Amino acid sequence: MTDRAAQHFDREAADYDAPRRRLVPPFDGFYGAAVAALELGATPPRRVLDLGAGTGLLTQHVLAARPDVRPTLFDGAPAMLDRARERLGDAATYVVGDLHDAPPPGRWEAVVSALAIHHLEDDAKRALFARVHDGLVPGGVFVNAEQVLAPTARLQAHYRAWHEREAKARGATDAEWDASVRRMRHDRWATVADQLDWLRAAGFPDAACLFADHCFAVLVARRSG
Ligand SMILES: C[S@@+](CC[C@H](N)C(=O)[O-])C[C@H]1O[C@@H](n2cnc3c(N)ncnc32)[C@H](O)[C@@H]1O
Repeated sequence: MTDRAAQHFDREAADYDAPRRRLVPPFDGFYGAAVAALELGATPPRRVLDLGAGTGLLTQHVLAARPDVRPTLFDGAPAMLDRARERLGDAATYVVGDLHDAPPPGRWEAVVSALAIHHLEDDAKRALFARVHDGLVPGGVFVNAEQVLAPTARLQAHYRAWHEREAKARGATDAEWDASVRRMRHDRWATVADQLDWLRAAGFPDAACLFADHCFAVLVARRSG
């Protein structure tokens, strides 16, 4: 695993969780919509794969709503998964791997991801969407909760100003915000419209944006069947 982003997260794992609610202003609505999106699947999911699972925040939300789920957490940063293991214990399986190769073999009833796929270049996102499609059972669901690019430069500036204002209103210091801006320079955000196109091209007939608050959006796609 040589990906720069994963190495960065390995170094920062211990400090990852504390500022989440400040830096993701619609935290509850965002993660809540990702969990609610699982209802699109043909059956209640049991085998759920979390891509770029990090310290397990999204899986924790999934398990709170669906305790029957048997989650697998996939991430390139072992230290992030160590934090997830502290959080979730033996309720989950942990796999270190690269999103360029994901998903690991399995017939997944749901694949979920939060704030991770934007670390990939657009071509790699598209390739990942196709592999996720192929790894799902018929009627399986893919939920991608993401930080997204605005459709125009003017809107992007508006999103950025909103994000900074809301993070600081929730207690983010100037230093915390500046560090977050430095990290975001490495992100490869894509618009909701492009990602929905790529999901349909990957073979998902049903793809939609179920939640959007400025630069935070939850996309869902269901495999036929
Ligand atoms: C911002 S964190 C999100 C963690 C978690 N999903 C959440 O909602 O808090 C992004 C995660 O993606 C992982 N990641 C980034 N690029 C990756 C790659 N190429 N392969 C595997 N994991 C990667 C990082 O290690 C990190 O844990």
